[in-house]
Amino acid sequence: MDLIMGNWKMHATHLEAIQMMQKLFYRLNPDDYARVEVVVAPPFTSLRSVQTVIEADKMPIGLGAQNVHWESEGAFTGEVSPGMLAKLSVSYVIVGHSERRAMFGDTDEVVNRKAKAVLAAEMRPVVCVGESLEQREAGEALEVVAGQLAGSLAGISIDDPDQIVVAYEPVWAIGTGRSATPDDAAEVTDAIRADLVDRWGEAGEGVRILYGGSVNQGNIAGFMAKRTIDGALVGGASLDPDKFAGVIRYWI
Ligand code: PGA
Repeated sequence: MDLIMGNWKMHATHLEAIQMMQKLFYRLNPDDYARVEVVVAPPFTSLRSVQTVIEADKMPIGLGAQNVHWESEGAFTGEVSPGMLAKLSVSYVIVGHSERRAMFGDTDEVVNRKAKAVLAAEMRPVVCVGESLEQREAGEALEVVAGQLAGSLAGISIDDPDQIVVAYEPVWAIGTGRSATPDDAAEVTDAIRADLVDRWGEAGEGVRILYGGSVNQGNIAGFMAKRTIDGALVGGASLDPDKFAGVIRYWI
C-alpha cells in the first residue's frame, strides 16, 4: 500500500501534537486509510502523547520517529535507543534525513548503523537519500544517490519488502517550496528501484520508495502517478492537519 508520512521536524509541543492528531483524524475517513498507510513522525517529546491518543481513539495511523541512536543503551547523553522507540509503538524511524546529514554529522556509515539498529529492533527504517543543488547542476544526481544507497544500505538484507522504506528527497526541494518535477523525481526513483532490485531481488521490487521535498496538496498527485513512487515524506504541509489530509487524499 502507498505510504504517506508526515515529518513534523522540530515543531509542536506534546499538547499541540495531541490537537494536531485529533484534527487530522477528524478529516480522514475509512476509505482514505484503505488506500494509504498514514504515519506521523513527531519529535521525541510528543511520541508518548501521540501514541496514547492513537490508541485511545483507535486511530489507524502509524507512529514514526525522526532519528535514533544505534546502540541499545549506554553513556550517550541526549540520545534515544531503538528499544525505547519500539516500546512506544513506533514502527518507522527516519534515518539519514538531509538535515541530519548536513547539520548533525550523519554520514552514510552512521545512517547504515542506525538503519541496522532499527531493523534489529523490528521497526522499519525510512532511509533518506538525495542530491544537493550543486550536485544536480553538475549532473551528478544519480551518482550521488547511488553512493548514498551503497553506503547507507551496506550489509543489509531483507526478505520482506515492508521491512524498509527508501525516501528520495532532493536537498534543494526541501522546505524551499520548489519541488522536483514528477519526471525529474521519477528519473531518480527509477534508478533507486533498479538498485534495490539488484540488491534484494524480488523483495527489492516491493520496497516502497517515497518522494519528499515541498510536497503539497497541489503537486502530490503528479508524484503518485509515477510507477516508482509509492508515497511521500511530507514536511511543512504535514503540520497543518487540513493540508496534510489534502495530501493524503491525493486522488480527490
Ligand atoms: P518539506 O520537507 O515538505 O517541508 O519540503 C520534506 C522533508 O524534509 O521530509
